[in-house]
Amino acid sequence: MLDLATRYMGLTLSNPLIAGSSALTANVDGVKRAEEGGVGAVVLKSIFEEEIAAEYEGVLAEAKAKGMSLESYEYYDYQVRGDRIASYTELVREAKKAVRIPVIASINCTYSHEWVTFARQLEEAGADGLELNMFFLPSDLKRTSGEREKDYLTIIEKVLKQIRIPVALKISPYFSTLAQMIQTLSRTGVAALVLFNRFYSIDFDIEKLSVTSTSGLSVPAEISMPLRWVALMARRVQCDLGASTGVHDGAGLIKLLLAGAKAVQVVSALMANGAGHARMMLTGLSEWMDRHGYRTLSDFRGALSQAESEDPAAYERVQFMKHYA
Ligand SMILES: Cc1cc2nc3c(=O)[nH]c(=O)nc-3n(C[C@H](O)[C@H](O)[C@H](O)COP(=O)(O)O)c2cc1C
Repeated sequence: MLDLATRYMGLTLSNPLIAGSSALTANVDGVKRAEEGGVGAVVLKSIFEEEIAAEYEGVLAEAKAKGMSLESYEYYDYQVRGDRIASYTELVREAKKAVRIPVIASINCTYSHEWVTFARQLEEAGADGLELNMFFLPSDLKRTSGEREKDYLTIIEKVLKQIRIPVALKISPYFSTLAQMIQTLSRTGVAALVLFNRFYSIDFDIEKLSVTSTSGLSVPAEISMPLRWVALMARRVQCDLGASTGVHDGAGLIKLLLAGAKAVQVVSALMANGAGHARMMLTGLSEWMDRHGYRTLSDFRGALSQAESEDPAAYERVQFMKHYA
């Protein structure tokens, strides 16, 4: 009998495949479909502080147009934030009732003071864990990398002080000294780091001369970024490593486990093929384990990490030199 169970951020998952934060996990039906599809856990769609702020600004403008007083603004502040948070905490509560797999809530905040309130309320609503989706596009010419990095540490410290459920941090690869930053973040007390988030990107319409957006879904080739970094950082961090981006099939899942991931998130492949695709990916993993005589994930997890490799330089090769000569 194969055992696909894994411990990830202090939670026991029946298998290492997680339905990542996305439209698929934005409502209870989607969460149920993900569980039926076979995943070991779900990360709910993030609650966005920017979204709340935008909603708030809309109400404020309306209130101003109606000539309402400052006290009313405060009332609206309370009301709007309350509504957004209430509907998200309700999602956590309902999802917990609807499925047996762990439910990880997710917050995307831009300002440190907002995080803590959200985090505590999600813990109270019954979330098994919390994933912090934190990213500041490094486009601000006035902020140094050191200042930006400090923002991450400040926010994490504040959240960890307030809640007891395990916290994962999902990051981008856009740090100037990525390996060091991953190691530093792993020592903050977070239970896991997820490498990496993938973002909404711009494109140009060259006929209309306007800015558009790219398709939101990843392609399998994008697995190369998390693969390299999970492999480089496995056994060099003080928390679990989760992986995200470009995992579309059983082979992708196996590669990231070999690199050293404790859990692997999937979004685009489930959105494109339906939640049932998770089962096919897990079947791919089981068949491969069977072929190789592995019984549990720990029989092979991290076997292709740099720390275990006989050719560690291969992981750091970045120039094509001889490849296309
Ligand atoms: C439509 C869509 C919505 C997403 N929403 C969120 C979100 O709210 N929070 C978050 O942390 N990541 C979000 N993501 C990013 C995914 O969780 C994931 O990290 C990314 O899609 C890369 O994984 P994939 O290659 O399996 O798609 C979203 C992705 C998509 C495609």
